[in-house]
Amino acid sequence: MRIRVSPGGVLAGEARVPGDKSIAHRLLLLAAVGSGRSVVGGLPPALDVAATARACVALLGDGGARLEAWLGKIEGRGSEEGHLEVGPEVEVEGAGREALRAPAGPMDCGNSGTTMRLLAGVLSAARFPATLDGDASLRARPMERVADPLRRMGAVVETTDGRPPVAVRGAPLTGIRHETPVPSAQVKGAVLLAGIAAEGTTEVVEPAQTRDHTERLLSALGASVRQTRADTRRADSKGAPGLNPSRLRFLDVLGRMGARVEQEVDARELGEPAGTLRVASGGTLSGTTVTPAELPEVIDEIPLLAVVAAGAAGESRFEGAGELRVKESDRLAGLRELIRGLGGEADVDGDALVVRGGGLEGGVVDGGGDHRMAMAAVVGALAARRPSEVLGAEAAAVSYPGFATSLRHLGARLEVAR
Ligand code: S3P
Repeated sequence: MRIRVSPGGVLAGEARVPGDKSIAHRLLLLAAVGSGRSVVGGLPPALDVAATARACVALLGDGGARLEAWLGKIEGRGSEEGHLEVGPEVEVEGAGREALRAPAGPMDCGNSGTTMRLLAGVLSAARFPATLDGDASLRARPMERVADPLRRMGAVVETTDGRPPVAVRGAPLTGIRHETPVPSAQVKGAVLLAGIAAEGTTEVVEPAQTRDHTERLLSALGASVRQTRADTRRADSKGAPGLNPSRLRFLDVLGRMGARVEQEVDARELGEPAGTLRVASGGTLSGTTVTPAELPEVIDEIPLLAVVAAGAAGESRFEGAGELRVKESDRLAGLRELIRGLGGEADVDGDALVVRGGGLEGGVVDGGGDHRMAMAAVVGALAARRPSEVLGAEAAAVSYPGFATSLRHLGARLEVAR
């Protein structure tokens, strides 16, 4: 799918965003290992979430029947369809970790690193072996960072030269203190999900704050999967986006560049604040430096911030961004190419991305199969001087099915072509 972007005009209006995939993965897995019925609302029909849902269905048997029906409804839909529907609440009937079934074959995590890493944590205490695999992008991503602490807890975890496929053989686990060398919410999440099945205390020490959904959900659920009962309608009917502070650091960065964004929290469920963002248009933006200390909290927004920086006045630096090399694609090199492809100036300096502002001309660019790169390219193209074309735009459905529809709803001039 390609998106032709005609720049110009002001985007205005209200848009509802799909539910958050980081929260959705965790809710589904906690519901699957809990005993009893959980009701999960606002599940985004995103490909990554579908990968976790498929894994839960494989492990649950009959308890996953409603989730399987939900998957049946969203699979095969075009990437722009159905995103504005308020998703139905989906019931997941867990019978505790001990009742999980051995999957019939390798579990396909698709493009989703979060699915694979969190699942490895869950399966570390299972009574059966399982193999986790994924697409070409996921097969290139590092897995020792999660295999290592899980092994220390007692599980047998084998990677393939450090990457997927990953074979996990569960065992009785013992809690550990794990100092994560790389700040990663996925590694923290995997260790904590194993930790709730372990004997003793599990502690994760991270070098910089990462998103804290696992901690919030676990403590909202009493940190006991036996009491798991996820019942959230937060991300659907009201259309409220998640406003967890560990996910909003990018607003601070935009704020110091000169953007005017207000947030209003009007809901809180399972420890997760949600509400409305109000963005004022107009005014000019100036360049900024994102330091290595704040980088982990804007890790997923760097593609967006980088294209915004390309339209700002002056230079911007994103420092300590080496982790971007091992995301769904090499986003460090990819962003340099993407910004250059849109007629801007960008360079990689060690682990830093340097973007020279001044505006983008427009051009033909490819998201390289990476959802965040494809969406950032569209945003950059909207602010360019001339029309652009973004190839591989279907990748947006990994996290934001209906992305182009949302933008069009706000007045963006986009044409979607197959
Ligand atoms: C995520 C954590 C981040 C992020 C990813 C989602 C999560 O990855 O990039 O999109 O839900 O835990 P790392 O933990 O590898 O930084």
